[in-house]
Amino acid sequence: MGKKIFSDVVAAIDIGTTKICVLIANRDAYGGVDLIGIGQNPSYGLKKGVVVDISKTVDSIKKAIKQAEDMAGTKIETVTVGISGGHIHSLNSKGVVAVRDKNVCQNDVDRVIDAAKAVPIPQDQEILHILPQYFKIDGQDYILDSVGMHGVRLEAQVHIITGAVSSAQNIIKSCELAGVKVSDIVLEQIASADAVLTPSQRELGVGILDIGGGTADFAIYRDGRILHSKVLPIAGNHFTNDLAIGLSIPISIAEELKKLYGFVWEDKYLELDKDKVEVELKYGQGIKEIETYSLFEILNPRAEEIFDLLVQEIITYRLKTFMPTGMVLTGGGSLLSGMADLAKNKFGMPVRVGVPHSYKKKDSEILHNIPDLLKSPIYSTGYGLLLYAAGQNDLEFTLDKNDSMFTKVFKRMKSWIYDFI
Ligand SMILES: Nc1ncnc2c1ncn2[C@@H]1O[C@H](COP(=O)(O)OP(=O)(O)OP(=O)(O)O)[C@@H](O)[C@H]1O
Ligand SMILES: [Mg+2]
Repeated sequence: MGKKIFSDVVAAIDIGTTKICVLIANRDAYGGVDLIGIGQNPSYGLKKGVVVDISKTVDSIKKAIKQAEDMAGTKIETVTVGISGGHIHSLNSKGVVAVRDKNVCQNDVDRVIDAAKAVPIPQDQEILHILPQYFKIDGQDYILDSVGMHGVRLEAQVHIITGAVSSAQNIIKSCELAGVKVSDIVLEQIASADAVLTPSQRELGVGILDIGGGTADFAIYRDGRILHSKVLPIAGNHFTNDLAIGLSIPISIAEELKKLYGFVWEDKYLELDKDKVEVELKYGQGIKEIETYSLFEILNPRAEEIFDLLVQEIITYRLKTFMPTGMVLTGGGSLLSGMADLAKNKFGMPVRVGVPHSYKKKDSEILHNIPDLLKSPIYSTGYGLLLYAAGQNDLEFTLDKNDSMFTKVFKRMKSWIYDFI
């Protein structure tokens, strides 16, 4: 027999390339989350969003958990975690079936989704999400909920997201070695979108780009569903490395310089209070004076590269019409001065920086305020994971005791299909 998982304390871990962040909250009757603990520790075991050194990752996770647990005054057992990295791929696929009784039932929907997911996937990849986009019945297009409709031919278009099996396993293993069990693995841009997008943006159509330290994760929402996703292997750390190499300075100083004076949109130069700054050279070679405008010259091409890759993706898949409300940037990389201005110019649409925001609680008019501490693009993924943890527990998902944790997580992923129908 399965065991019912239900808990009023929920926890999430954002295992990022630059930081590991643990959030613990009490879940209230309306699915709101009241933060009771936060722990953060630098992350040294990841490259480009992927765990490459388990022991360093475990060490960072343990420290962040301890901090959060001490603050919350409670221990955590299960967590929701995110997944990202260059190994994440996505594709759209179609399936067609004949409707058995001329009235579409859930079984027809399951069969057509099964048909749509029958695409060749490399051996080392596993399907993480199958997100139905729309159905077509006898030529009638863009149906969102097909159950109960009349017809003989049912077609489905689905968005399939795949990821390397080994990467998911390493995340689960790192958490287990740090003393917690993984109940869900969520694609990071889905989590970030939960935290920063409004329901109306998701309905009308919007793009979200989470620029972290190692990857920039993109997704488009339309009619409340994911229409397209893409992980770009370029993000904040590349900007820092460019400065370190270009100016011949240590990484730590480049990072500080980027945050304090870096900009990627020329007009932002006028907002700087300094034309020149003094920095320490590598290997103790003394002090060097740097013109702050030179930061723009080094950082701007990298920002252009990220946005150009995305423009290419938008053109290739003809996505612009699906983003009438524009684009939301989030993740620590979006804090770099001028990112939103440059993106607006590149995409020719409204662009803003999104942070986790207050929201109306489920089935209620009560506004859920979030602590000011979390109102930064750096916490979008973590907070989204926490919301996901709170919402999912509502389902009282039944797990089979005999399944391995990996099977459980993948079973859980498969069950996400129904969240989107
Ligand atoms: N004020 C700032 N100005 C410019 N860049 C910043 C600022 N604050 C943070 N960053 C950059 O944001 C990046 C980290 O962002 P974030 O915390 O979202 O990444 P992560 O979740 O650890 O990584 P990933 O999601 O790619 O695995 C770093 O490259 C950091 O330099
Ligand atoms: Mg991140």
